[in-house]
Amino acid sequence: MQRTFAIIKPDAVKNGVAGQILARIEGAGFRVVGMRMIHMSKAEAEGFYHVHKARPFFGGLTDFMSSGPCVVLCLEAADAIKKWRDLMGATDPAKAEPGTMRKDFGASIDNNATHGSDAPETAAFELGYFFRGMEL
Ligand code: CMP
Repeated sequence: MQRTFAIIKPDAVKNGVAGQILARIEGAGFRVVGMRMIHMSKAEAEGFYHVHKARPFFGGLTDFMSSGPCVVLCLEAADAIKKWRDLMGATDPAKAEPGTMRKDFGASIDNNATHGSDAPETAAFELGYFFRGMEL
């Protein structure tokens, strides 16, 4: 079994589809190990996305992620990191396959409904950023 970190982003929460996304997560066979609704500050969003600090979209991304509440999740399944990335679809909803989270619930590359860790090291950092060990 493997664990990964996921976010139901502020656009999805605002659009009232957080429950639908969670139902698809559970329907796909993930165990929800940890879950919390939070509203990140700009500084917290900058810390979370620090690897993208030099990218031109960093300012807009961290403004968006601190614009409203989101749901942070620890998901467990066999090969969870790839499984969740497959279920999310391509980063840009326009390029994502039908039936994926980003195709069905995302509006643009900036407002793309969900986030997921891309590697075991990233998952370890991201889970540790939002959850204490005793919570999981
Ligand atoms: P996420 O998986 O949360 O990781 C970083 C986010 O930056 C990404 O989803 C997108 O929402 C956003 N983003 C905006 N522009 C780009 C881009 N050109 N390439 C990658 N990510 C981008």
